[in-house]
Amino acid sequence: MRNKIIIIIIVVSALSLVGLMITQAFWVNKAIELAQQHFEQRAYNALCGTVDRIVKLNNTNPNLITDTTANGTLYKLKYYNFDSTFKKLVEFNKIHEPYEYAIILNSNDSILYKTAGFSPHSDESKKFKKCLYDLNPKVSARIEVIFPTFSRSIICGIWNWLILSVIFLIIIILSFTYIIFSVFRHKKLSEIKSDFINNMTHELKTPISTIAITSEILMKVDPSKNTDKIYKYARIIHEENRRMQLQIEQVLRMAQLDKNEYELNREEVDLHELIQNAIENLFVDFQQKKVSLHYHFEATRSTAMVDPLHFSNIIKNLVDNSYKYSKGDPKIDIYTVNIDGGIQISVVDNGIGIAPENQKYIFDKFYRVPTGNVHDVKGTGIGLYYVKIMTEAHGGHISVKSEQGKGARFDIFIPFQ
Ligand SMILES: Nc1ncnc2c1ncn2[C@@H]1O[C@H](COP(=O)(O)OP(=O)(O)O)[C@@H](O)[C@H]1O
Ligand SMILES: [Mg+2]
Repeated sequence: MRNKIIIIIIVVSALSLVGLMITQAFWVNKAIELAQQHFEQRAYNALCGTVDRIVKLNNTNPNLITDTTANGTLYKLKYYNFDSTFKKLVEFNKIHEPYEYAIILNSNDSILYKTAGFSPHSDESKKFKKCLYDLNPKVSARIEVIFPTFSRSIICGIWNWLILSVIFLIIIILSFTYIIFSVFRHKKLSEIKSDFINNMTHELKTPISTIAITSEILMKVDPSKNTDKIYKYARIIHEENRRMQLQIEQVLRMAQLDKNEYELNREEVDLHELIQNAIENLFVDFQQKKVSLHYHFEATRSTAMVDPLHFSNIIKNLVDNSYKYSKGDPKIDIYTVNIDGGIQISVVDNGIGIAPENQKYIFDKFYRVPTGNVHDVKGTGIGLYYVKIMTEAHGGHISVKSEQGKGARFDIFIPFQ
């Protein structure tokens, strides 16, 4: 249900954003159109005003209306200073664009006169035309004016606003995307957390019920006769209790990792020895599968300054994973080698492996490779998170190489200094 609401909100917001963009584009277009209309009006005012003035001047001085030829009209126009009058009126109409003009005969479109920059082939819709009948009814000519930079200057006029809108739009889109991602991240995190709680409950329930059943049986055993049985049951209780303790310790450790509250008590230790001891202790818990474990200690220098407790936990976590995530009897190989002023420890197994797309997440807190709804292998997803943080706290790093179904190899590098 929650999922549905989130998706609906996202779709509605995305549609609104698209709507906003379309509205914005519409208004920009409208603004350009209006600016164009406004400009055209002013340009015509200037052109018609100029011709009117010349006509008026012509009317008040009838001696000047002698020319009935096209060329005569042209000279008259020049005489009356079309150019300077037009220039004045253009400025009066608050047009600051440069212009070019031509006087053209209507009969055959031949150009009587043109300024240097006038191109007769320029866009017809951008030409301002005025016939000269009023000046001399016998001459059928027209004036054509173009403003070559006019479109560009209209765009320039609204350019700043356009840039501002684009910036605001980008900000809105980025924030929107960020919010969507963080909503999904939070959702995923809360799912992962509830998975973790389920897993943890499961992990604790098993030893608790084993202890309950075993202690019940123990109470019924006659202590004078069955010392063997008593020892066996007491051992089970002890082991289950230990398992629970380990789980709880791991959770508490994780809380410390989150708050950066852990402390490293480094001392000079022989890592080969430490690895062997850690794994020996771990083997007490390994009872269901037959493990074949081999050490390949090739490092000639194996002493390093590490925290023995955390370091053996690192090894235990890796070997425990190799044990848990194998289908048949696990084959585990531990390698050490000296490289780059430190020691590399590799834990290699022949287990189920990890698909490449999951490898980047396995060091995340609570992450477990999804196996559908059935989790036949118990775990909480904090082991490798702990391993990574602790390796890095020692100044080292960890990497994984694996192929699904073909085992996994975890390499830990610890520098000597
Ligand atoms: N050696 C391994 N082989 C295959 N998968 C592994 C191995 N080690 C870890 N994984 C995968 O990485 C996940 C995270 O491991 P970890 O943090 O130790 O959590 P947990 O073991 O509690 O599930 C595991 O759930 C498992 O899917
Ligand atoms: Mg683990």
